[in-house]
Amino acid sequence: MHRNATLSIATLVLAGGGFAFAADAGTEDAATDRRQLVDMPAETQAMMRKEMRDHLLALSEIMAYLAANDVSTAAEVAEARLGRSSMGKHRGTRKGKGPGKFMPKEMKKIGHGMHDAASRFATVAESGDLQKSYTALNDVVAACAACHTSFRIR
Ligand code: HEC
Repeated sequence: MHRNATLSIATLVLAGGGFAFAADAGTEDAATDRRQLVDMPAETQAMMRKEMRDHLLALSEIMAYLAANDVSTAAEVAEARLGRSSMGKHRGTRKGKGPGKFMPKEMKKIGHGMHDAASRFATVAESGDLQKSYTALNDVVAACAACHTSFRIR
């Protein structure tokens, strides 16, 4: 347990690459929020937030499948909804307004890291090793956290 917690913080620091993540959730307001504001059109914001809610849902499903020892469905969900296969899924319908276009380099890098981590998790989960699967899943969650602690869109 302790080892994993340490690991996850290390990954967070690596992925966050020096961005501020000292947010004090209890007292945060506009003046103390040190996340970088990323400007995007309202339409793009809505798109991104919708995707984000699906990310969380996918994560929840993946954990439920892992808990039920159904590693191959966990892998399938991860690859399709979070992995590299999920990238550019909406390209045709977005008319150049997809969130990627508005993201600073570092944010994009964390985003790509998350997709890579999800695809890696899928491969590891397919191998059936639950312990390794949890470790790989931790990299995915650490990327979510790294981005959220560094960037905001409103
Ligand atoms: C590359 C950056 C990045 C990554 C990676 C990322 N997010 Fe987000 N996410 C954001 C930003 C920015 C917001 C909007 C914050 C704000 O409201 O300003 C957000 C918002 C959200 C929201 C709130 C949606 C809403 O309706 O407001 C959820 C839930 C969420 N993310 C889940 C996740 C999960 C789960 C993962 C990982 C599987 C993840 N995110 C990965 C950047 C990211």
